[in-house]
Amino acid sequence: MKNLLSQLLASAISTLQTEGVLPTDISPNIQVETARDKSHGDFASNLAMALAKPAGMKPRDLAEKIIAALPPSEAVAQVSIAGPGFINFFQDRAWLARQLQQALDDERLNVPAADPALRVVVDYSSPNLAKEMHVGHLRSTIIGDAVARVLEFLGHTVIRQNHVGDWGTQFGMLLAYLEENPATAEAELGDLENFYRQAKKRFDESPEFADRARERVVQLQAGDEECLALWRRFNDISLGHCQAVYDRLGVSLTPADVRGESAYNDQLAEVVDSLQQRGLLTESEGARCVFLDEFRTSEDKPLPVIVQKAGGGYLYATTDLAAMRYRHQVLKADRVLYFVDQRQALHFQQVFAVARKAGFVPEAMQLEHMGFGTMNGADGKPFKTRDGGTVKLIDLLDEAEQRAYQLVQEKNPELESAELRQIARAVGIGAVKYADLSKHRSSDYNFNFDQMLSFEGNTAPYLMYAYTRVASVFRRIDRDMHQLDDLAPLVLEQEAEIDLAAHLAQFGNLLQYVAREGTPHALCHYLYELAGRFSGFYENCPILAAEQPAQRDSRLRLAALTGRTLQQGLNLLGITTLERM
Ligand code: ARG
Repeated sequence: MKNLLSQLLASAISTLQTEGVLPTDISPNIQVETARDKSHGDFASNLAMALAKPAGMKPRDLAEKIIAALPPSEAVAQVSIAGPGFINFFQDRAWLARQLQQALDDERLNVPAADPALRVVVDYSSPNLAKEMHVGHLRSTIIGDAVARVLEFLGHTVIRQNHVGDWGTQFGMLLAYLEENPATAEAELGDLENFYRQAKKRFDESPEFADRARERVVQLQAGDEECLALWRRFNDISLGHCQAVYDRLGVSLTPADVRGESAYNDQLAEVVDSLQQRGLLTESEGARCVFLDEFRTSEDKPLPVIVQKAGGGYLYATTDLAAMRYRHQVLKADRVLYFVDQRQALHFQQVFAVARKAGFVPEAMQLEHMGFGTMNGADGKPFKTRDGGTVKLIDLLDEAEQRAYQLVQEKNPELESAELRQIARAVGIGAVKYADLSKHRSSDYNFNFDQMLSFEGNTAPYLMYAYTRVASVFRRIDRDMHQLDDLAPLVLEQEAEIDLAAHLAQFGNLLQYVAREGTPHALCHYLYELAGRFSGFYENCPILAAEQPAQRDSRLRLAALTGRTLQQGLNLLGITTLERM
């Protein structure tokens, strides 16, 4: 609705410009707000006040002219002027009700399909395989997955890319250790964290072992079959750990989405060659670098992007350049989103710039680093175990489920343990994911079990519970919230109904925003607000106890659309809803 009103206002402004009422050299920033006091209108704009000066008119006079120039719209019932020159809009309730009915009649809740539909590569999760996944990977995995789901729901073709770190010098150390004690290593591989620690210990203690490790790196890079076989075995195990975490989290990544750094090995020399051919390479202390004018150090010295080390080895940046070429040439991406820690912002600015300069990607292909902040402990300090180690993701999820189990049991002592466990799993995992998703991704966030598991506030348990409240209305009358054809039509009368309805009608718009900005917290906020408005409606407008059958039917429709929107919204966030909890 806000978009629509902005469009109507923009059209009125351009009419007034052609008529000579307004100067042609202004491009106003049109703002439409939801009115707090609904007695003067549902939406308001201060446009006439903002433009009064350049127009050389009194705000109220200009407001009158704008209103006269507004194109007619069936969504608007009435427009008026208030106060110093606000333009107030009353939305047409019958029209709003028709919108909601269309949503009810559609599996996709009448969310318009993206036009044009794009091919979008989403690069997310992408852990380094040398170690076990830890909490640092949680944000990329969860936020990236939610955005991928939203893009897909809108009709884009999403290509997930799990750009795992499966190559590099650490692997020499791991292979040497694996080779040295095949029997014990076998058992220790079940715990990659420990395996890594043991190997590192050997590496630090024994110069002889360290030499062997370095030799393995060279052999690996030279394509030695025995080394490659060990390396493959190690990665298979490590990827198996990752997949177990994805499955447990309900993250939509599969083994088919893995395209790690090693996949680009044989293209790295070519990448460097073509940079050379385009005259972009400079040799600096034996290393081959690209210098771009826009990147300078704080002392205003040119800042290089190193693509090949003095010893001949390639770098993280070289691989990303090769990956960009692949994403253009083979995956035919229109847009590529990178869900990676904010600390890599400079890296991405640089490699994007180099790729464009080198012509690896066309101008029209969008490259966006969707950075995010750090996850800290509840105390705001870096997230660590009690003895200062990194927290393993699996342990964290175990604890979330255990805590959820206790909470749910306290609430429903009568439930059987199998059902309790099922609810606890959904609530525990949902809480961990939602806590992360609901904060703006660019800020750091503090991981706090008590907060995320609370049934009050902007949390997963609160929203999951809101859904069960709707479900229970339909259970009481033994109806399915998807089959309402025989009911009387939707009619909006009470303020609480209109409030809820207006919010429901925004769902599609909101999803487009999330897809554009890569910010699932906006969807969380939307759902939280939806649950709040539903509460207001539920308290003020009896559904099953409505005075008239027609009123009951209409309210049932409103409740059903709320339930379905909550379910769909949570589902896009990768959170399961329960019928009761
Ligand atoms: N493996 C990297 C890390 O853990 C993240 C990779 C992100 N994706 C990319 N194309 N660089 O830091």
